[in-house]
Formats: sequence, structure tokens, C-alpha cells
Amino acid sequence: MIFGARPLIGLDIGSSFIKAVQIKDVKGSYELSLFDMIPIAPELIVDGSVIDSMRLMDFLKELKSKARVKTKDCVLSMSGHSSVIIKRIALPEMSEEELAESISFEAEQYVPFDIDDVNIDFQILGPKEEPGQMDVILVAVKKDIINEFVTVAKDAGFNPTIVDVDAFALENMYEVNYDIVPEANTVIVNIGASTITLNILKGGVSAFTRDSAIGGNIITEAIQKEFNVSYDDAEKLKLGESLENVSQDEAMSIVYSASEDIFTEVSRSIDYFRSTSMQEEINEVVLCGGCALIKNFDEMLAERINVNVSLVEPFRNVRIPDKMDSSYIKEMAPMAAVAVGLALRRHGDR
Ligand SMILES: Nc1ncnc2c1ncn2[C@@H]1O[C@H](COP(=O)(O)OP(=O)(O)OP(=O)(O)O)[C@@H](O)[C@H]1O
Ligand SMILES: [Mg+2]
Repeated sequence: MIFGARPLIGLDIGSSFIKAVQIKDVKGSYELSLFDMIPIAPELIVDGSVIDSMRLMDFLKELKSKARVKTKDCVLSMSGHSSVIIKRIALPEMSEEELAESISFEAEQYVPFDIDDVNIDFQILGPKEEPGQMDVILVAVKKDIINEFVTVAKDAGFNPTIVDVDAFALENMYEVNYDIVPEANTVIVNIGASTITLNILKGGVSAFTRDSAIGGNIITEAIQKEFNVSYDDAEKLKLGESLENVSQDEAMSIVYSASEDIFTEVSRSIDYFRSTSMQEEINEVVLCGGCALIKNFDEMLAERINVNVSLVEPFRNVRIPDKMDSSYIKEMAPMAAVAVGLALRRHGDR
């Protein structure tokens, strides 16, 4: 780390909320120095792509001034199965430099897009059991999507220096806050408005990731349909308010029935991992994202998949200073899991 360098802003531009987090290094430990989020209008970001960059820029500017962001340098994150590909692959053993030379060629068969249209990165995990082979994590992100987000962030006055992906930001957040149990399989699942990101760690190393195009929006839509209300009113009902003609109890019964499809998707991804890994046990699920704030959502998911589910605690090892509203921050913390992971990146990280 560059001594004295200002920490970066973790800027998580989600399709329904944008979040900004900054974390300082204070005498070898972490301290929160900024935490804020604002909801954005629906349909500015659809399927992981920026649809209305002007309005998105306005929301980013609003967050920047509301949170009194002083640092421009930020870390952005990409997600979504239509723009991000993450694969764990086996390759013949070679050095980091050799792989850097040949990665585009190696990646071609794993990436369903034109290789010239993606930015590729990789991490060598280590040798495999088979002699002469090594495990590599390959990441490919569509250049035009990166461009859309980088441009809008720049137009809003930020300076993106690192572009990460949600699955790895979550892993980074986890590593800082949790003890790694060797051989344990931990599912980190982030359930946002339009995407579910799942990263299964085996002994702390990513063994499987998946982004699915489903999230809390299906609950909002179900409420809109059932009670014939606007998006804004449906969001209010979902967040616990009641309306003149709709009670909280009525709304919650729709919330729970619509959540079923989300549980099914999580369960399917876990089953898929287990079917490709000799039916390994899942030891724990760590639940992140806005849907984690739905009352009893963790318990219902646990019941459905038959695994212990806990709400993520992204500030276990990050001190919240007294001048900040710690009870609000802790309440909203699951929504900030990605932003915390981004904020823990430092200048010079890849
Ligand atoms: N208190 C709450 N109770 C219930 N649902 C909530 C609450 N707060 C937020 N949500 C829901 O969580 C979702 C937003 O979560 P999050 O901020 O993780 O998503 P996002 O990052 O904007 O979306 P994505 O990553 O999918 O693009 C929305 O669907 C919102 O309605
Ligand atoms: Mg998100």
C-alpha cells in the first residue's frame, strides 16, 4: 500500500441503489470513513447495462454531495451473467508472465463473446493434483459495459481506478471479516434488485461463481400487480410501510410468495455446484444484498435449502467511529457488502 495515500471510494452502482463506502487504515486496522446510499429511479440500468446515463450521472452527483465525498478515486464493480464471465479452469503449468502472454488465446474457448470485446484478467490459484496442471480463475468482462459505467462515473466527477466484479468484491469483504475454515464450503450470496451473485468458497478459495438475472424486483412487480399500485408505492409496501388501502400483512404475504422464485434460484445454483463437486456439503450461507433486509428472509431461505444462513456482517473487522450512526449502518450493512469489498481495494491492486 502506498503510505499516506487516500483510500479509494468503493462505489457500487446497483440497479436500484448506489452505495459509497470508504475505509481507512488506522494503525493496522480498518476504520469506516464514509457510508452512504441513495435509491435510483428504476430502469436506468437494465440487464447490467446503463440505459440512461444522464439521469444516472445526476444520481451519482447527488450521492457525491450528500455523502460529502472528497476523494475522486474510486473502485467500480460489474455484475450480471450477460457481461461478466468467471470460470475456474485447468491449464498447463506456466509462469504468471507466460500466462499473461497467452491468456486471450486460452480464454477463447471459455468466453461466449468475441475475445476482442472483453477485458480479461486471471489469477493462478496453484497446482492441481494432476501433474503439470494448474488451477486458474479466469475473468472476462465486456469492454462496452465497463465503458458505460466508467464514463458515467467520470461525468459525475469520480475517477475510477479499478474495475472489479461483484463476486470478488464479496470474497474480499468476507476475507477481511471472517476466519477461513480450511475445507469448509461457504456460500456468499448477494441478492440485489435484479441480480443474484453467488460465490462458493472452499477453504476460503473461490470454487464456483454464478450471476443470475433475478432479484428483489420480482417481489416489487408482484406487489404492483396484486394491488395495482405504482413502483414507488410497491417499494414502500415492501420496505414495511402500509398504504391507505393495503395493509402490511397483505403486502408481506405477497412478498413471501414472490420470494419463492429467488429461493429456487439459489437452491438450483447450490445443487449445480454440489453435482459438479462430488456432492460436497455446504457448511454455511452468508446472505448479502437488499433482499437480506426482508423480515425473516434468512430463516425462510435456510428452511428452503436446509443450510444454516446468517446475515452478512461486513463491519465485523471494520471499526465504525462514534461520530457515525452505527445502528443505521449496521441495519443497512447487508446492502453495502459489495461496496465494502470494493472499498478494501488499494491503489496498485489489479
Ligand atoms: N428494508 C428493506 N426491506 C425489503 N427489501 C429491501 C429493503 N431495502 C432494500 N430492499 C430491496 O433490495 C433491493 C436492493 O438491494 P441492493 O441494493 O442489494 O440491489 P442493487 O445493488 O441496487 O441491485 P443489483 O445489484 O441487482 O443491480 C431492492 O429490490 C429493494 O426493494
Ligand atoms: Mg448490487
